[in-house]
Amino acid sequence: METTILNNKLECPLIGIGTFMLSPTEAENSVREALKMGYSLVDTANAYVNERACGRGIKGSGKKREEVFISTKLWPSEYENDNAVDETLERLGVDYVDLLYIHQPAGNWMAGYRQLEKAYKDGKAKSIGISNFEGKYIEELQTKWEIVPQFIQVEAHPYFTQKELRKTLDKYDIRLMSWYPLGHGDKALINEPVFAKLGEKYGKSSAQIILRWHTQMGFVVIPGSKNVEHIKDNLDILDFKLTDEEMAEIAKLDKNERYYHRTDAQLIQFAGWKPDFEK
Ligand SMILES: NC(=O)c1ccc[n+]([C@@H]2O[C@H](COP(=O)([O-])OP(=O)(O)OC[C@H]3O[C@@H](n4cnc5c(N)ncnc54)[C@H](OP(=O)(O)O)[C@@H]3O)[C@@H](O)[C@H]2O)c1
Repeated sequence: METTILNNKLECPLIGIGTFMLSPTEAENSVREALKMGYSLVDTANAYVNERACGRGIKGSGKKREEVFISTKLWPSEYENDNAVDETLERLGVDYVDLLYIHQPAGNWMAGYRQLEKAYKDGKAKSIGISNFEGKYIEELQTKWEIVPQFIQVEAHPYFTQKELRKTLDKYDIRLMSWYPLGHGDKALINEPVFAKLGEKYGKSSAQIILRWHTQMGFVVIPGSKNVEHIKDNLDILDFKLTDEEMAEIAKLDKNERYYHRTDAQLIQFAGWKPDFEK
């Protein structure tokens, strides 16, 4: 698996399995099968309520701990819980994660970021990240961080390429991990004719062309799936390269338009919501 080198010299795989909206059973199956077929990055979160299941999937794959890059996220209602990191590790069944995010700029998110920095120093998180911290949030964090994050996880796909944010990321060598990389099941993106045309040329599906675009943009990509055939296809994207002209053609799809619009009222709700963790 090709990797990218983070700003702290840690190596991270370019492709991972996403587990948002997967039930515990689905997450366990997807993670186990993905790892068995050659994936080495798993993305979960406190809020997905499937961390235990991902842990079971990792164990069931037969992979050694050091062969898997585990990414998870603290939810805002955990930011002021001093045991949040240890409880997260316990659910996953590991004694460190490779990447730990704060999930949303909600509640006392600076306390959450301090927990990441502490986990990093204690060796409980090999890298740290911020999720959904575009605009004023990353600007404020820049004045306060002691450790520059290695990652930001945000919505990104050919309709929304995070052009503005990428200027800040370049400055600090922060890597972008894209969520909704395939449009979260929206058919309009996948059905754009340019992907079918390029798919024909390279013998790939439209989804594979989109995922290849992500990696060539320098993004780490974590498509979500509970379908083993899709999971297999999503890994099989590194044996061809889109040309500069083809990347430029795909760039024309950029509408600077997100699928997901988060409101300030939602941020308040997020801070008050506690995940009902699997027992
Ligand atoms: N930080 C955040 O706030 C945040 C928010 C959202 C997501 N995420 C992370 O990002 C990951 C990816 O986002 P997502 O899962 O919401 O959206 P996505 O990856 O854009 O789309 C997932 C959808 O695409 C389908 N799909 C997957 N592979 C396919 C293929 N090869 N061909 C056709 N359809 C395919 C899946 O269906 P099947 O199951 O049938 O394959 C599923 O319906 C999440 O799983 C999660 O880890 C993070």
